[in-house]
Amino acid sequence: MARLPATVTEVASELPSLSICNRHARARVFLHGAHVASFRPVGEAEVLWMSIRSQFAPGKPIRGGVPICFPWFGMHPEGGDRPPHGVVRLSPWTITSADDLPDGQTRLVLGLDSPPFTLAYTVTVGAELELALEVRNTGNAPASFEEALHTYFDVADVRRASIEGLAGAAFIDKTDGSATKTQSGALTFTAETDRLFQGTTSACTIVDPVLGRRIVVAKKGSRSTVVWNPWVAKAARMPDFGDDEWPSMLCIEAANAADHRVTLAPGASHLLSQTVSVQRLAR
Ligand code: BG6
Repeated sequence: MARLPATVTEVASELPSLSICNRHARARVFLHGAHVASFRPVGEAEVLWMSIRSQFAPGKPIRGGVPICFPWFGMHPEGGDRPPHGVVRLSPWTITSADDLPDGQTRLVLGLDSPPFTLAYTVTVGAELELALEVRNTGNAPASFEEALHTYFDVADVRRASIEGLAGAAFIDKTDGSATKTQSGALTFTAETDRLFQGTTSACTIVDPVLGRRIVVAKKGSRSTVVWNPWVAKAARMPDFGDDEWPSMLCIEAANAADHRVTLAPGASHLLSQTVSVQRLAR
């Protein structure tokens, strides 16, 4: 175990986690999946959504927060019993370092070997939440992967929320036989939504008029964006998702998937990062 600074407390349980409390924010990070489960800037309501039905058990994904999808996104192309969204969200990561920064932020680095890749995940907790996943190919041959920071956001009512920043972008509609479509204007939610946007590198903004806030989700090293809400029927089919919880969440995922999977030469690395910040809406 790395030495922990004053702002980080280890919480022992079947799934160990780190509780972070500094002058900017509070956060919770499970070593299982390097899973950021909570982020609450000082004076602000919780930003990340977590299901009351989530399991917190070895071998099971956590439903909410920020699962890391890697090295494939969604179902594995060869199917079989491979878990959806890859194996690293089910794996115990280790703490490489934990530090208080001079500006009062806290920085954790967690690591995992997922041959032929080595992963380093840097979580910086301040007024903003910065997540950076570095993937290095430590093998002897080129190797490719898909990835996503599958971020669940808390909203007061998804039917009244919208997402700006995707207008005009092409997407694969997974609720309509993977038809290719173009986003018209701001994205609003009126039914199950499962969209894989391709060639999208700019920030998205969640506008939540009920909570009176905008959540800006900026990213680097990502060419795909996924937006997801299961709505009524799919929520009811998921055992770890409460039947009535779907209005209170939406996912925006900074990803590299499908046509934008990443191929690394031996020794090469790739960095995917996402920054989450909250702005109050003028009343
Ligand atoms: C999204 C996918 O990223 O994750 C959806 O686009 C999927 O199709 C959702 O249902 C949740 O996946 P899981 O494996 O965590 O239930």
